[in-house]
Amino acid sequence: MSQPTPPLVSGALPGLGHALEFRSDRTALMRRGFEEHGKVFSIKLANQDVAILIGPENQKTFFMETDKALNIQEPYHFLTATFGEVLFLAPHEVYLDHRPLVLEAFRREKMLHYADVMQEVVQQWLDGLGDSGEIELVDAVTYLVQEVAGNCFLGREAHQQLGREFWDLYIDLSKALDPLLPPNLPLPKFYRRDRAKAKLKSILQPVIAERRQHPERYDDFLQDLVNKRYPDGRLADEELIVNLLLALMFAGHETTAGQTAWTIIMLLQNPDYLQLVQEEIQQVAPAGVHIDPKRMMQLDHISWAVREVERMRPSVDMLMRTVKEDLPVGDYVVPQGWLAQVAQDVAHNLPALFDDPDTFDPLRYAPGRAEDKQDRFALIGFGGGAHKCTGMNFANMEMTVITALLFRQFDLELVTKHPQVQRGLGASRPDKAVVRYWRRNT
Ligand code: HEM
Repeated sequence: MSQPTPPLVSGALPGLGHALEFRSDRTALMRRGFEEHGKVFSIKLANQDVAILIGPENQKTFFMETDKALNIQEPYHFLTATFGEVLFLAPHEVYLDHRPLVLEAFRREKMLHYADVMQEVVQQWLDGLGDSGEIELVDAVTYLVQEVAGNCFLGREAHQQLGREFWDLYIDLSKALDPLLPPNLPLPKFYRRDRAKAKLKSILQPVIAERRQHPERYDDFLQDLVNKRYPDGRLADEELIVNLLLALMFAGHETTAGQTAWTIIMLLQNPDYLQLVQEEIQQVAPAGVHIDPKRMMQLDHISWAVREVERMRPSVDMLMRTVKEDLPVGDYVVPQGWLAQVAQDVAHNLPALFDDPDTFDPLRYAPGRAEDKQDRFALIGFGGGAHKCTGMNFANMEMTVITALLFRQFDLELVTKHPQVQRGLGASRPDKAVVRYWRRNT
């Protein structure tokens, strides 16, 4: 007898399935599915069947299946109108050409340089805060993350030259992302996207031309892209360079901003743990001391807090693939043509893996407990397998630097006591979160 397909969660509406609930409260939908059917179940988004795979054993299947059986390009196709066929938006053979280019950006010596850039950018911003005041955290952190990304990937000079215009145009790109509508409908948001893309290209063109003329003057990621030759000797063209840069900014900036803001918020909501963090900073890297790689490695309590935020407030809370070949999962088979999805919201909340999962408890990662190490597919905020996030170490370092520099120079208090999760297409993040701050006497 052939195996059954994953059971459907209750509440599907005729014609729409779970589409409305998926939009309004997908955490509740996923949690109900898990309660009703366990680790493998299905939802319906209009006519599309979607299998939800929960738990390390099933998440392993999701991440380790080849791109041929579980295709990543198709479900994210709506991003192609904005970023072109780059990375996993490209056919698999092309993707294999692009991935080493991106890995180049995160080589060890580049990471050491980025650590310095991050500290300079963050310190400059902190110096401008005055002795006390109020800020909206998500906007502030988004600005910082943009400045860091611009300085690290475009190079300091090019980023200064492009200025804030680059990011203003970038916003028109991200506002036009739409998984439902055909991307070339005559709508104002799609016109604005195309105008912004053309403008971004026109401002990056002279920068790239200068880099081609004087490659010896620059040593940064943009230059690596400009120098890149395919095995047949061709240079990466302008279109690809621009698309790769924009795709990296997309993958990295709202995601990092969201989890950084949550790290600050959750530390402020947990003053006992924050005290451990502040004592550690005082010991390892007091005010004025540069955080070199050795010191960075010693900031355990920040690193555990950052990981706890990855678990409890993942910026990316679901991942999709198109099933191209029937896929056995546990007692079921997921048929070709379905979508498969993992859901961090539920995956990171399994009591069998994470003790008292609703509690913010970064010490669960300390030696002796190391709850995340029980299975390499237990904590999946940065994905897993072949498509695991290439920017993970960069993002974790940036979150550590922002948190360390902020809390060693300022005392803070949440004015918005309980910020809520706001879901976007780029990433989930806190909605408005106002904090009050006072400079510490150091
Ligand atoms: C907290 C911040 C971040 C989070 C939560 C995050 C999360 C993720 C996740 C879950 C994936 C896997 C996607 C999938 O399997 O469908 C991914 C892939 C990726 N991320 Fe990140 N990311 C973050 C920061 C960054 C940064 C800073 C960069 C680069 C500047 C970056 C670049 C990428 C790239 C290029 C991929 C595609 C990898 C591939 O398919 O080869 N990410 N990220």
